[in-house]
Amino acid sequence: MKQYHAKIKGTGRSLPEKILSNHDLEKLVDTSDEWIKTRTGMSERRVSADDKASSDYATIAAEQALQMAGIHARDLGLVIVGTVTPDHAFPSTACLIMKNLGIRNIPGFDISAGCPGWIYTMNIAKQYIENGACENVLVVGVDMLTKITNYKDRNTCVLFGDAAGATVVSRAAEVDISRVIDSDISADGNYWDLLIQPAGGSRAPASYNTVRERQHTVTMEGNKVFKLAVRSMYNSCETVLKRNNMDTTSIDWVLPHQANMRIIEALARKLKVDISKVIINIDKYGNTSAATIPVALDEVIRSGKVRHGDIVLMTSFGAGLTSGSVLVRI
Ligand code: ACO
Repeated sequence: MKQYHAKIKGTGRSLPEKILSNHDLEKLVDTSDEWIKTRTGMSERRVSADDKASSDYATIAAEQALQMAGIHARDLGLVIVGTVTPDHAFPSTACLIMKNLGIRNIPGFDISAGCPGWIYTMNIAKQYIENGACENVLVVGVDMLTKITNYKDRNTCVLFGDAAGATVVSRAAEVDISRVIDSDISADGNYWDLLIQPAGGSRAPASYNTVRERQHTVTMEGNKVFKLAVRSMYNSCETVLKRNNMDTTSIDWVLPHQANMRIIEALARKLKVDISKVIINIDKYGNTSAATIPVALDEVIRSGKVRHGDIVLMTSFGAGLTSGSVLVRI
């Protein structure tokens, strides 16, 4: 069977207009701009409109990515969405985005992998392209975590923001240097309860009590997640680098999940990468879960910071506990 190569052909992003600053949060919980900045690196985050959901922002990001790729939505062979905040438990957000884009009769599905949702979907898209099943795949990372955030819990409410990022992954021509070089994804369910939306599923269906006790919002053991974050992203980066006989001197940029500036710095130290080679936008958007990496990637490609031919190592971790990396030549 002929093997093809996959490449990133287009990127897009959509962020809500409403800004929630650290000073705004000071009015909601017992916190301070100083604490949030020094402990997380965040200054502000975006909050989606009450009447908007994941598919609304994701559709805008997808349209931008298709435009950059120079293809029409009807050229897509598959739509995959990484999200833990779908519009509905079902149908999938992928189906809603397809409806908005005016396409049908191709497969579309959602992946629940927490923050590495986009990394997981990239891993799947790569395989669909490489085995020849598709020529173009739309990969979306979208989350509206503010919709499931408890604004009475200072341990979590300062961390999250909303965003959507989209990527068109396409078959690369033989002569093309752009490539999705490799990808690694992993999960360890032993840590299932460290980061969780406890109610709303079959374990604890919605009830008066689950709503009253705010069990439909994110709960997290921040300290434990912190330690696992650095270790799991480092291990995943090492896996893809070693598999390709590379080390961090071979790469131009590291684009890590933006959960905490201290996690990003610890990862850079462990990887022995100078912080100037690390792509960071945590101050503006906070942690936007599955949207984090595709949004940052779109920003640095459109701004010209990352250029054609640059090698970018992207890595993430999140609820599950999940982790993964994607190594790409742009
Ligand atoms: N403002 C002021 N004080 C605070 C705040 C706040 N917003 N939040 C916590 N504190 C307090 C705590 O109550 C505690 O006070 P105490 O000592 O009196 O009990 C003190 O600060 C220290 O708390 P820690 O939890 O030890 O603070 P830490 O330095 O670990 O920072 C944080 C907390 C920012 C949550 C950090 O642990 C972290 O970033 N963890 C990883 C989070 C993460 O990566 N999540 C991934 C989510 S991805 C997804 O899939 C959704």
